[in-house]
Amino acid sequence: MKIDAWLNERLDRIKEAGVYRNLRTMNGAPIPERKIDGKNQTVWSSNNYLGLASHSRLISAAQEALQQFGAGSSGSRLTTGNSVWHEKLEKKIAGFKRTEAALLFSSGYLANVGVLSSLPEKEDVILSDQLNHASMIDGCRLSMADTVVYQHIDMDDLENKLNETQRYQRRFIVTDGIFSMDGTIAPLDQIISLAKRYHAFVIVDDAHATGVLGESGGGTSEYFGVCPDIVIGTLSKAVGTEGGFAAGSAVFIDFLLNHARTFIFQTAIPPASCAAAHEAFNIIETSGEKRQLLISYINMIRTSLKNMGYLVKGDHTPIIPVVIGDARKTVTFAEKLQDKGIYAPAIRPPTVALGESRIRLTITADHKTSDIDHLLTSFHSIGKELHII
Ligand SMILES: Cc1ncc(COP(=O)(O)O)c(C=O)c1O
Repeated sequence: MKIDAWLNERLDRIKEAGVYRNLRTMNGAPIPERKIDGKNQTVWSSNNYLGLASHSRLISAAQEALQQFGAGSSGSRLTTGNSVWHEKLEKKIAGFKRTEAALLFSSGYLANVGVLSSLPEKEDVILSDQLNHASMIDGCRLSMADTVVYQHIDMDDLENKLNETQRYQRRFIVTDGIFSMDGTIAPLDQIISLAKRYHAFVIVDDAHATGVLGESGGGTSEYFGVCPDIVIGTLSKAVGTEGGFAAGSAVFIDFLLNHARTFIFQTAIPPASCAAAHEAFNIIETSGEKRQLLISYINMIRTSLKNMGYLVKGDHTPIIPVVIGDARKTVTFAEKLQDKGIYAPAIRPPTVALGESRIRLTITADHKTSDIDHLLTSFHSIGKELHII
């Protein structure tokens, strides 16, 4: 059998199951108003929560570093890829996350995989929230430790699992800060007090919370006023650039630098990306206005959709899942939104449970109130037309 015939069979299987994926071509800067596959749309599915990806200060910072340092880093951090910008950014992240030190990875995905595959050992166990991101799950798969999954943000179940795993040498509780499909916030205060009681370590992936939650955008730790042992994050969401990081004690960072394979065997991100991310943190630290605007949009949209009669999941985060239920109806809903110039994807099983298909909206501070008005009127009319509300 030729390789293509075999692969086509496999592709046909996912097409039949309705979970085939393909790419869409975006034209222009990552702002809400974009041409997608040639058609004007307002994007409601971007992670550029504070609108920093197209901010002039980030672009200037990157341009300057690009001139001085070139387009690529040319090697792993441990060979020829390290620059003053990598080090400056790591100091900045450590200050922002209130940890002793931080280490950059090429992406948040690789940070999660790097930490979880290197830190827990064979005699340890990882307690992982049921809805953790794929990169956490893959990190658990690569780890020598066992993994035990607890029910999503269910503290009773976590405590049960902590009781059942006393035989292990060390226990690591790993959780997303804001969950990417449900928009829920992990109760980090409760998780940390359980961890203290049961002598476990806490690792939080603050990909969606960095720059968004907390008085100065410090993330879930700042929001709850707690200090997890390790914070992982990405620079690709509210920070508006690319790359990932792990933050914690100086010893932990030294350990990662010597053990995390996704750090050691990876070309460093370009200095220009570091310069842009550094400038993004300067903006995040000094201006709460964008965050305030984002929060006011979140509140307005959540309240209006609930008042219309929609089942809106999650907490007050920029991820707003609107449950439609039936998978086909959800796809029809998304198509009707697109006809009205609104780009918001339909999320179906197996990504979410059967009967929980949803439109997943993500809100950014770059949206305009006129965009929100159009979104809400469209949800109202389509919801009535499809007998959902
Ligand atoms: C919760 C979470 N963690 C990690 C990642 C990976 O980050 P990155 O895109 O930088 O690889 C994502 C999304 O992409 C995410 O949603």
